This record gives sequence, C-alpha cells and structure tokens, in this order.
Amino acid sequence: MQIIDDIKQMQTLGLEARAAGQTLAFVPTMGYLHSGHLSLLEEGRRRGDRLALSIFVNPTQFGPHEDLDKYPRDFSRDEALARSAGVDWLFYPRADDIYPPDYATYVNVTGGLSEVLEGACRPGHFQGVATVVAKLFNIVQPHLALFGQKDFQQLAVIRRMTDDLNLPVRIVGMPIVREADGLAMSSRNVYLSTEHRRQSLAINQALRLATRKVAEGVTSASVVLDSARSRLQAEPDLMIDYLKVCNSTTLQDTAVIDDSALMLIAVKIGSTRLIDNHLLLQSWPGP
Ligand code: PAF
Repeated sequence: MQIIDDIKQMQTLGLEARAAGQTLAFVPTMGYLHSGHLSLLEEGRRRGDRLALSIFVNPTQFGPHEDLDKYPRDFSRDEALARSAGVDWLFYPRADDIYPPDYATYVNVTGGLSEVLEGACRPGHFQGVATVVAKLFNIVQPHLALFGQKDFQQLAVIRRMTDDLNLPVRIVGMPIVREADGLAMSSRNVYLSTEHRRQSLAINQALRLATRKVAEGVTSASVVLDSARSRLQAEPDLMIDYLKVCNSTTLQDTAVIDDSALMLIAVKIGSTRLIDNHLLLQSWPGP
C-alpha cells in the first residue's frame, strides 16, 4: 500500500490506472475506520482492480460549534486497517492543500434534497460535503465510489451532484453495518459514555418498532412516528433533532407508508449527535 499526500501524485496514479484500463474503486472517509468503512473497502476491493481510500477530516462540512477539533483521529490504526483491507492507495492530504488560502469554489446541490433533515439542522454541511467529494473525485479519478447508507441524505446529495455535473463516477450505496446490539456503526460512537451508549440503543429500537408496526399492517406515518417518538423519549438524555418518515427519493415528508417510506432519526445524546434510518417496508436486518 502506498500512502500519498500529494494531490498531483494521486491524480497521476488515478489517470494512469484509467489509461491502463484498470477499474479504480474509491472509498472517501474522514478516518477512524470501523466495520462500516471496512464493508465499503471489501466491496471496493471486489469490484475494482485498484482500490483507493481517502482519509480527510473535511473542515468545510463542520459548523462553527460542531466537533471538528475533537473528531476522532488515529492514523496509524487506520493505516494498519487499510493495509489489511487490501487498499492500494491511501490518500491523506493536508487541509491547506485541499483548501489553500485563496480557495474560492464551492459546490451547492440546491433544492429540497439538501435543505431538509441534516441540511436544516446543519446549515452549510452539504455544501462542504459536495465540494470535497467533487474535489476528491477530480483528484482520485475513480470509476466507482462507495458510500454507506447510514448517511442516507449524503448519499442522495452525492448522487444528485454526480448526475448533475456529469461526473464519470458510479455511486454505490452500501447497507448500514450495525453493532451486535443494533447501534449503527459510526466514528462518533467512541464519544459515548457507557450510560449514553446504553440509551442510544433507543434509536435502532425505535426504527425496529416502526418497522414491526408496518409489517403488522399500519400504513399511517403518524402512527409509526408516535411509537418511535415514545421509545426515544423514554431515554432521559436523548434529545430528538428530527424524527421523520420521508419518501426515500425526494426526502420530503410522506403521510402514507409505501415501498419508498424511509424513517430517519437524528438525536443528540450529551454532546454527541447520532443519525440512523431504515426503509420501513424492508425487514430489519439481524436480531
Ligand atoms: O461520510 C463521510 O465520511 C464524509 O462526509 C465524506 C463523504 C468522506 C466527505 O468528507
């Protein structure tokens, strides 16, 4: 595995792989890798002749009062995991190279997709995500890029951007990976105290409860929202940022459960913010 911090060098390697007819798979991350990331790397390794991973904690997607400074980082651990996942190129750029002092260009996916849910709670977040992902695509030159469905809205915004800008990259969405007790894998889980870790199980339990109600025949979004809300509100330190049932394509609220109905949850627990989601007509994975 080669570790590359130079933008030009990474771009040359990507272009050379393309010219040689090799399929280049790419997994963009902010590091502190967990099993969710490893599932993306495994699929990337399966689909690509070459596999690139980027680790870059992107400052432009964090709000002024968010956790940029304390976002977990452990490069040597990530490096070892990347090696064992069969990564060919680990791109690890410096923030000043990605955003030099005269940097002035941003990508905005306008309209409903980026203004609701995370976009409403975290103004500017998707501009930061779309900008860095567009830059990373231009630098790495992948044929396909893999993203987890835990960040469902991010995936939708990236698909929209890739289509709208005619970027020659296939976007692959991968299933959420969960801990044995159902908590969705996230680099931010490391912030949780034992008690908050316990209370955070209410998130996946609320999604499961809603899924069960739908399987029993409930078709009203407000009924499943009520039962999910009660489960979340039973935990004293868990504050709901949003709890919604949306159409999974438009991300607009939906009143009646159909194939595309997606429940999305964002909560704050202590100073940690967690998100999760589930398509309500899909059976719950695992126990
Ligand atoms: O999902 C993430 O880790 C980040 O939002 C991404 C896509 C790497 C952009 O910084």
